[in-house]
Amino acid sequence: MSLLSLNNLTVILKEQIILNKISFSLSSGEKVFILGPNGAGKTTLIETIMGFVPFQKGQIKFKGKVVANEKDFQELRKNVGYVFQNPDDQLFSPTVEEELAFGPLNLGWDRKRIKEKVSEILAFFNIEHLRHKNTYELSGGEKRIVSIACVLTMEPELLIMDEPSNGLDEKNFRILVEFLKNTDKSVIVVTHDKDLVRELSWKTYFLREGKLTEE
Ligand SMILES: Nc1ncnc2c1ncn2[C@@H]1O[C@H](COP(=O)(O)OP(=O)(O)OP(=O)(O)O)[C@@H](O)[C@H]1O
Ligand SMILES: [Mg+2]
Repeated sequence: MSLLSLNNLTVILKEQIILNKISFSLSSGEKVFILGPNGAGKTTLIETIMGFVPFQKGQIKFKGKVVANEKDFQELRKNVGYVFQNPDDQLFSPTVEEELAFGPLNLGWDRKRIKEKVSEILAFFNIEHLRHKNTYELSGGEKRIVSIACVLTMEPELLIMDEPSNGLDEKNFRILVEFLKNTDKSVIVVTHDKDLVRELSWKTYFLREGKLTEE
């Protein structure tokens, strides 16, 4: 079954057509890359899926339901973990621990479940030592890995990541690759990182001149 589908999605920003009748379908458990040159509209595309950018034409469907108004997008965002291209746009909590707990708190989980989940994710990404740090005091790579970790605590069905390997050292790159290889979640990764693409032989889409094509 299709988890996410886009039908003829068109996005115009400042009278410029950025996305031109994009159609795309992602099934449950499917993992794909979206590649394309700087300014092609990759971030715009995934921000449109999240409801951060309005679209002029076409349709988005998630889990069989049309996503049309803000309430629909709020529902979608409960099930989709979104990793921003720039971690500073994403991280806002005073501490790493609070950042990781934010999603589950919002979903109304009880304290015990949240505590266990936060500890599990901190351990998985090998960042227990960052637990009580201020998010704004982290290094660039630390911010990146925290921004990935914190969308996973709410156990989303779909992950959408905008250049998740940017700034990661070899050790954290390996952790990310192993996670992406082994997760049973559906994943869309936007990237320029050829090493990441080589490591994961996923279906690859290319965005260019407003059109999305399969490689
Ligand atoms: N808010 C906005 N208003 C007007 N134009 C915008 C806006 N946001 C993005 N754009 C334009 O849309 C185009 C696509 O930008 P986008 O950030 O989606 O590209 P990208 O493929 O993610 O590029 P990169 O690989 O550099 O991250 C660019 O030409 C950009 O200038
Ligand atoms: Mg981008």
